[in-house]
Amino acid sequence: MPKKTFAAATRKQLERAAQKAMKNAHAPYSNFRVGAAILLADGKIFSGCNVENASYGMTNCAERTAIFSAVAKLGPKIEIRAIAVTNDHGVACSPCGACRQVIYEFGPDAVVFFKGARGPRQAHITELLPEGFRLQ
Ligand code: THU
Repeated sequence: MPKKTFAAATRKQLERAAQKAMKNAHAPYSNFRVGAAILLADGKIFSGCNVENASYGMTNCAERTAIFSAVAKLGPKIEIRAIAVTNDHGVACSPCGACRQVIYEFGPDAVVFFKGARGPRQAHITELLPEGFRLQ
């Protein structure tokens, strides 16, 4: 698959939106704030933060918060072109498995911007989630 080219400015814009949303994180248990921003096919940007809970398993990651708020506003026909993820520790952080599946649902051709083990990375969602699930 040919690598999608995104203007550096687009990536920056998404990262800025993610950083801004990150400030609203509710992360008193992990102290690890995460922000995410998605770019839709129509050019709109939605962002989200992680929202933790005293019952830890109820936590919602930043990526899913961003996606669910876009669906809540625009309905289920959204198409994610790109998503950026940031955190307040400046450490490597790629979307968790659950979020990969949710990104794939609304963006089977999405590009994911995140900090990898060896620095900034851009990966296609199917690189991160091979054989993603689709209900036939
Ligand atoms: N988290 C995210 O929001 N996104 C990720 O990509 C990785 C993990 C959150 C979940 C939890 O609130 C905290 O980071 C620590 O796991």
